[in-house]
Amino acid sequence: MDVANNGPSASDALVARDAENFFHQQGSSPCIAGLKHAAGCWIEDLDGRRYIDLHGNTTHHLGHAHPELVAALKAQLDTLTFSPRRFTNEPATMLAERLVGQWPGGKGRVLFATGGSDAIEIAMKLARVATGRSATISLEGSYHGHGFGAFGLSRAAPDARLGSFLPDRRHIRSYWGEAGADGMLQDLGKALQETSGGVAAVIAEPIRSNCHVPPDYLWPQVRRLCDAAGAKLIFDEIPSGLGKTGRFFAFEHFAVVPDIVVLGKALGGGIMPIAAVLADARLDIAPDLSLGHYTHEKNPMTTRAALTTIDIILRDDLGGRAALLETLVRARVAELAATESALIGVRGKGLLLALEIDRAQIAAGDDDLVQALFGQGISTTLKGRAAIGFSPPLTISDQEIDTALLGIARALAQVRLQRTR
Ligand SMILES: Cc1ncc(COP(=O)(O)O)c(C=O)c1O
Repeated sequence: MDVANNGPSASDALVARDAENFFHQQGSSPCIAGLKHAAGCWIEDLDGRRYIDLHGNTTHHLGHAHPELVAALKAQLDTLTFSPRRFTNEPATMLAERLVGQWPGGKGRVLFATGGSDAIEIAMKLARVATGRSATISLEGSYHGHGFGAFGLSRAAPDARLGSFLPDRRHIRSYWGEAGADGMLQDLGKALQETSGGVAAVIAEPIRSNCHVPPDYLWPQVRRLCDAAGAKLIFDEIPSGLGKTGRFFAFEHFAVVPDIVVLGKALGGGIMPIAAVLADARLDIAPDLSLGHYTHEKNPMTTRAALTTIDIILRDDLGGRAALLETLVRARVAELAATESALIGVRGKGLLLALEIDRAQIAAGDDDLVQALFGQGISTTLKGRAAIGFSPPLTISDQEIDTALLGIARALAQVRLQRTR
């Protein structure tokens, strides 16, 4: 619904109050609109504008406010709302059982945190304790969270204003960069050999959340190199896990099992903040340490959200649905590309997709392109300069997929036509 541009907008007023009080930071405040409602794959702002949410920070596998999840959380509110450390509770234990039940390589064990960044740091600690080493190898230009440990994995030299990060970090070329999987393997072999004292862990996303899928041979070879060097392999599946790519774990697309996998984001059903470290039970070797000593470690509300989310994903085979919808999106994009020349392809897996565009045909800068998409009722971000994120809930209907793709095609036509006028 379009709002007449003739009075103070409730959304703009909230955006202004937000900008007045929050620290301004890239990608956050100032905001683009103030929301009042989110359900399924739709979000609605205070002025009544509705957007299909193709972003959802990858938390919305179930869609926003899934009714069963909302009901489960309301019921949990009436029973147990907090569990001080040293006590356990039913939802936390059932969640642990459920996740351990999904671990493919023998017996697993878990720890929970409230965010992905913290969970990544638990995984790093676990690898350090298990190997007696501290060095990590990660991919330059990756993203693993914002803690000093996790963010230090993302690039060799984060902004100098932030000061120093953990020592013993090595960064290698990524499979999605120009060097490709072969360049990454070359760098990895060298880095594993050259790191004096050895490497504790190699950390990476098995399928990059900007929708780059590596060739099948990459991860089995990485696994072999890690095994030969005694390094642990940690997969960050914070955005890509839980069915998003068509399998419960993204690594199941490849013939490989990591030592540790980290889940987050959608684990809380898009409502509660929770992340998990799931690892081979043989890493349970430091009962005298607190590797994940978090206040809300076994919070019954967050764990109820995660338990219900996993149960819905498995019961409704949402991973299977994501795989099916990938085929639909690819077919529809091929059709639309026949008339919209700026749309040139799809990359990614399941519903972790990006629509590739020909920037040479588009006059608009990044912000204007995203604005044109908003104007067509599409909430998303760019994945690099030449791709539009297409990451809807796994519960999206075929018709909503169509509505989203048509909106994107209309936005592209708009910015492309502006150039030729
Ligand atoms: C691949 C990856 N790892 C880690 C994180 C950090 O998760 P959180 O924001 O919950 O700390 C993110 C968040 O975007 C992510 O995309």
